[in-house]
Amino acid sequence: MAVSLTLGIVKPDAIATGKTGKILAHLEEAGFTLRAARLVRLTDAQAGAFYAVHRGRPFYPELVAFMTSGPCLPMALEGEDAVATLRTVIGATDPAEAAPGTVRKLYAESKGRNAIHASDSDENAAREVAFFFPEGELAGMR
Ligand code: RTP
Ligand code: MG
Repeated sequence: MAVSLTLGIVKPDAIATGKTGKILAHLEEAGFTLRAARLVRLTDAQAGAFYAVHRGRPFYPELVAFMTSGPCLPMALEGEDAVATLRTVIGATDPAEAAPGTVRKLYAESKGRNAIHASDSDENAAREVAFFFPEGELAGMR
């Protein structure tokens, strides 16, 4: 598999509980290289646009409220087969169902407050990396 990029976000719950460093170390130990990162406080409009695919679902208002509740850390992550690898490393959406040793099993509180986001396809990864990082901000790509 080729080296590719994906987007991860350390979510507000993990920032608030001081898990950011541990999560970054976990991702690096899993083989990812950090290519861009920025601490941001999303507006309602930004969080709504980012998760637009879920608009209309029952959990959408709660999801937007949570993602705007404090700062989060979007990251462009590079690695072998990055999208699928990161999904495996973070584990299932609900930490109760996440495999042992995954980021969500280790650090997430609940299905709603689940510590980390990861892109779910190469197409969405490209869209999501571009959402937070103009091309020139990716380290080494200037
Ligand atoms: P993410 O997009 O944040 O990486 O999470 P995911 O792919 O594992 O899950 P997704 O289906 O994309 O859902 C986005 C976020 O919405 C919340 N959610 N709550 N209560 C529910 O049934 C429910 N379903 C989804 C979760 O916080 C999930 O991360
Ligand atoms: Mg998702």
